[in-house]
Amino acid sequence: METKIFKPDEVEAAAKLLKQGELVAFPTETVYGLGADATNEQAASNVYAAKGRPSDNPLIVTVSSIEMVERYAQPLTDEVKQLMAKFWPGSLTIVLPLKPGTLSKTVTGGLDTAAFRMPENQVTLKLIATAGIPIVGPSANTSGKPSPTLAKHVYHDLNGKIAGIVDDGPTQVGVESTIIDMSTDTPTILRPGAVTVAELEQVIGDVKADHHHVGANEIPKAPGMKYKHYAPSAQVEIVDHPADFKAAMDWASKQNEAIGLMATDEVLAQLSVPQNVETYSLGKDIQSATHLLFAGLRHFDLESEVKVIFTEGFDNTGLGAAYMNRLDKSAGGMHFKK
Ligand code: TXA
Ligand code: MG
Repeated sequence: METKIFKPDEVEAAAKLLKQGELVAFPTETVYGLGADATNEQAASNVYAAKGRPSDNPLIVTVSSIEMVERYAQPLTDEVKQLMAKFWPGSLTIVLPLKPGTLSKTVTGGLDTAAFRMPENQVTLKLIATAGIPIVGPSANTSGKPSPTLAKHVYHDLNGKIAGIVDDGPTQVGVESTIIDMSTDTPTILRPGAVTVAELEQVIGDVKADHHHVGANEIPKAPGMKYKHYAPSAQVEIVDHPADFKAAMDWASKQNEAIGLMATDEVLAQLSVPQNVETYSLGKDIQSATHLLFAGLRHFDLESEVKVIFTEGFDNTGLGAAYMNRLDKSAGGMHFKK
């Protein structure tokens, strides 16, 4: 199959493919998603095959209107309506109880809930509205690899396996949406993202973070709770304090292999970088670092053969919680020790 690249003004053609049960990747403000008709069980199951994704990990349902959610979910509570009013379209995915029998087991992983998201991308909102159906939307990468923040990342992983990619340039946030479970008594954050705990608590009061470890026979409630995620081929090591980079560079200078370094401009400017170290700038702050994290990991995967990628750590608060959650998974929890 030849994977066709669609420009933003070609969404009609892309919507037609989706309605025919084909897979089409789409842009969002977080990362690129892999779209398929959420009401077509065969199409949804083809998404798992294209990604090489374990089939017990449920899919997000991507919508262009709240009315589309109401077709499948139980009547929305006031709190849920407030969250939608404040954060949609945007980087918040909301898990809601379903009306029985409305979405297939392939989409829900057998749960009686589903995760709904309305992304902040005009092209994709138009794509879904034109198709008239919600689309499943896992990140459009091979399972286990960093999520795609450029159409070319999607093309690299899925060329020949999907019908098309709608290219709307780089995504803005760089990591996937915050997931909040509103199907339980206490709202629970299953995955940190650009919408922070503090912002959520301003709207609905106390929320809790779920650090539950998922056992082998359990259905994971968010990616990475059970499966390896966001991992490039090289070993990623987190450098917790900017001051530790000097020791990391001393170590690197004694290696015979090439080493990667991902850090902000301020850190890079103060370091003397050995010849065998290739740098990738994370820009100036946590926003730019989050935007560039997956792109940087992919850069080292595709364009150079490094053994280790030293990557700057940030405070685990606000957007830093989302950044550190993804970085920790990429590194398999490995921190550089002096
Ligand atoms: O930003 C994003 O959310 C991106 C873009 C493309 O929209 N999508 C994304 O999808 O990250 P995905 O499939 O990689 O991650 C969504 C996760 C699933 O892996 C699953 O663990 C969780 O949401 N999920 C889906 N349905 C759920 C449910 N009913 N209850 C709890 N968690 C659920
Ligand atoms: Mg993913």
